[in-house]
Amino acid sequence: MAQGQLNNSTKTRKRNFSEHSRSSYAKRQKLLQHRASLPIASVEKLLVKEVQKHDTLIIVGETGSGKSTQLPQFLYNAGFCGNGKLVGVTQPRRVGTLSVAKRVAEECDVVLGEKVGYSIRFEDVTSTSTRIKYMTDGLLLREALLDPYLSRYAVIIVDEAHERTVHTDVLLGLLKSVQNARSKFGNNDKQLEKENAAQCFGFRKHFQGRSPLKLIIMSASLDAQMFSQYFGGARAVHIQGRQFPVDVLYTYHPQQNYLDASLTTIFQIHLEEDPGDILVFLTGQEEIESGERLIKERLKQLPENSKKLLVVPIFSSLPSERQMRVLVPAPPGFRKVILATNIAETSVTIPGIKYVIDPGFVKARFYDPNKRLESLTVIPISKAQALQRSGRAGREGPGKCFRLYPENDFEKLEDSPKPEIKRCSLSNIILQLKALGVDDVIGFDFIEKPSRQSFVKSLEELILLGALTDEFKLSNPVGRHMACLPLDPIYSKALILSSEFNCLEEMLIAVAMLSVKSLFYISSEKLDEVRTVYKCFESPEGDHLTLINVYRASNEVFKKWSTLRTEDNYKIFRKWCKENLIDSGSLRHAHDIHSQLRRSVEQMGLRVASCGDDLLQFRRCLAAAFFCNVALKQPNGKYRTLANDPMNDIQIHPCSSLFQGKPECIVFDELVVTNKPYLRNATIIDYLWLAELAPQMYSLEN
Ligand code: CDP
Repeated sequence: MAQGQLNNSTKTRKRNFSEHSRSSYAKRQKLLQHRASLPIASVEKLLVKEVQKHDTLIIVGETGSGKSTQLPQFLYNAGFCGNGKLVGVTQPRRVGTLSVAKRVAEECDVVLGEKVGYSIRFEDVTSTSTRIKYMTDGLLLREALLDPYLSRYAVIIVDEAHERTVHTDVLLGLLKSVQNARSKFGNNDKQLEKENAAQCFGFRKHFQGRSPLKLIIMSASLDAQMFSQYFGGARAVHIQGRQFPVDVLYTYHPQQNYLDASLTTIFQIHLEEDPGDILVFLTGQEEIESGERLIKERLKQLPENSKKLLVVPIFSSLPSERQMRVLVPAPPGFRKVILATNIAETSVTIPGIKYVIDPGFVKARFYDPNKRLESLTVIPISKAQALQRSGRAGREGPGKCFRLYPENDFEKLEDSPKPEIKRCSLSNIILQLKALGVDDVIGFDFIEKPSRQSFVKSLEELILLGALTDEFKLSNPVGRHMACLPLDPIYSKALILSSEFNCLEEMLIAVAMLSVKSLFYISSEKLDEVRTVYKCFESPEGDHLTLINVYRASNEVFKKWSTLRTEDNYKIFRKWCKENLIDSGSLRHAHDIHSQLRRSVEQMGLRVASCGDDLLQFRRCLAAAFFCNVALKQPNGKYRTLANDPMNDIQIHPCSSLFQGKPECIVFDELVVTNKPYLRNATIIDYLWLAELAPQMYSLEN
């Protein structure tokens, strides 16, 4: 009997094993077929030759043609990773970096972190055997602080360069000088040492790389010429995508209400056109949520047999699990309508799209250095974006794009969007460039230079924070420590100061929580529900302390799961998050950031102590670090900032615990304009502290 059982179970195991191997064999075959079918596959040899021939190469190819996943593998197979060197690929976003690395590890049939790995801020999944390394552009900039000639890399690929994030732009300038330096000295060690002594290119460390650096810039849109010019006439090649024809239709007149026009077009398509999913480009969460509501209302008015429309939203602050729903095909007989921000232009490729509705607008961040104000403004898209959007309709077959503006207006659009570097605060990158030894930051070889005024304002801010001396040199140790922390300079300053205020433990939590975006999934309709849930965490003294309360409350369930990674513990953690309307992925991320930051500050020799119940110390420390972000209550109950160019009549954000109480004086984390100007993450301070804690900006007289 026992033997029989044994035999039976052995048989079962055998069958399972062979089933398993059959299914994994089938999966591999499918992957191989998929790889072979990508447009880039047919030009592998040509591309490798181009890289061998040219030190800098610009590759333009439609999203989905296989650039990010295949090219690094081609280069690895062609022997570019000899002598333990790496092919590094930078991406603008964390999620993109992680998912491409996962995909390539799967294609190479290796465990992620071995031959193929990734590194993003606060998360490094690489090992000594990693040869293809995906990372965010910001992370490679940080690596340059430790290895200024990026000597571990044989090839660096800057992917999604058309996005022109601020880090991509700085990286392009940096890579240009690293490449010059490496090709100049690559074969001449004596010369190299001499020049090292002279601190050429502003880099101070010793050069260990012995070979020229291959640089590849990849982009999905038109700007090849600009990149080529910047790199001294570098060669540009185009990969022919598999794009089907897209019929582009325009309106006769501009639309007053593009949301309404979008809805009308959705229903026209749904009732009159062939099957196929619809992708609508809207500008943000609120618009998408109200679009979703309106579609559902209008759907009720349709006859029963035409109601099969499935609405799926996607925007960047939506928790990633919910974002993934756009990839799931609609049930049989249903048409899927995806309401998306520009996230669906190039970052996420959604299958099944046949119709695109493009109202022609996008929400972009702008920074006003005088007011220290960040605004989210709806602006017209560029031609490059309009083309990207219409291209989404022709990925799997012929499609249609409905541009909700007249053709004349298309002609008037800018060619490409304004790069982020011209719209953001420069403090962080100035600090990094200074740490890299680039003294003349205004003279740095940017592909497009930001305004002089932005430089001046950020330099002023860094001097006020004590990161730079009055001679614009990096101060020691404050500036050097600040440059080592992968944070906004104000957060870094807060950490450094908090060690003196005996509240580094609390500040580490506050900074970790402020560093994650979309911790709370707050749909505008559920604001009241959210307020009720947060009541138990709320601190009457402000949001920084509320965030600390949330973190501490989650500690027990998180620690239980992170030490004993059982399915049950994970479920408990997720349940806790769900009950408290918190995105579990973001909260995990905050815990990870916290541990990494703790390690960094301990390495710097800072003393990690808690202020316990003495929360006054913590608030005083916030005032000492965030003194540039102070607001006073006006007689009308709204607030006035104390910046160089003050702003009046601002409100504390309705999600804040201080929204009702309206204290006299607050420090805040962000001043953002959406439909109104709002102060986010505020904490009460006493304005009399300012003269004592920030005498560089305040005196008792003013
Ligand atoms: O870089 P590019 O946009 O040209 O293409 P890619 O990212 O290399 O994608 C090529 C194909 O790989 C896509 O069509 C997807 O089918 C697949 N892919 C994936 O499954 N998962 C990813 N994270 C990235 C790509």
